[in-house]
Amino acid sequence: MADPHVEPQVQVVDDAAWLARAAADLVSSVVHADGPVTVVPATGETPVGTYAELAARHARGALDTTRVSVVQLDEYLGLAADDRRTLFGWMDRTVLTPLAIDDGRVARLPTDGDVDGACAEFDRALAARGGIDLAILGLGTNGHLGFNEPPSDAASATRTVELTPDTIGANARYWGGEDDVPTRAVTLGLRTLLDARRILLLVSGASKHAIVRRALEGPVGEDVPASFVREARGSVTVLVDRAAWEGE
Ligand code: F6R
Repeated sequence: MADPHVEPQVQVVDDAAWLARAAADLVSSVVHADGPVTVVPATGETPVGTYAELAARHARGALDTTRVSVVQLDEYLGLAADDRRTLFGWMDRTVLTPLAIDDGRVARLPTDGDVDGACAEFDRALAARGGIDLAILGLGTNGHLGFNEPPSDAASATRTVELTPDTIGANARYWGGEDDVPTRAVTLGLRTLLDARRILLLVSGASKHAIVRRALEGPVGEDVPASFVREARGSVTVLVDRAAWEGE
């Protein structure tokens, strides 16, 4: 049987600045297509330049965000709502406020009470409103997408997860040390992400070289959750800078 999946389109750019501009071009074209758009914006360092570029376009009137809705990708568990480390706060500072996306257009992941029950409801509600148009994702050095840590299978639902030592180590640079990184989190599941009409995976820096090659060229499987982008339902663009692609 013919492979029903379209291979990810890999675009190699010179550096992080080029990546930010190329990503902003793609996001802008999706946002300016007809009708409302539902976007999932990853936090983390990789997309920060892209969001800054989008914010600059918005500020000079070149990007209309009035029809954009946002769905949160992932969040730590066990933090107070006003804790400096919430990923919602990060998303607010880098995406929601600069792009003038008000609260009514933001779906925030559950973090209290029966979180797994609420996650199942979150997935149902997201599917009922048409799913994700554009998922802007980063790549963990351990191959995670969102907080879908290895091993995660392609059918995994939105759920609570334990963060791996790799991720806790990698996230230490955000908050000042490993002891400041929460150990549990909630993440959109791979099934929900892989159903998106379009995935934009951003990869920057030599530290991502081994994993981006493994994800795109190695076996597809749950040990490298990002490898499942090769089986995504919609179109997949991987924007990768030369340092990540060549590994120098
Ligand atoms: C963040 C997220 C993570 C990051 C990944 C890469 O919301 O879901 O999957 O995208 O860990 O992080 P950076 O870009 O900081 O290297």
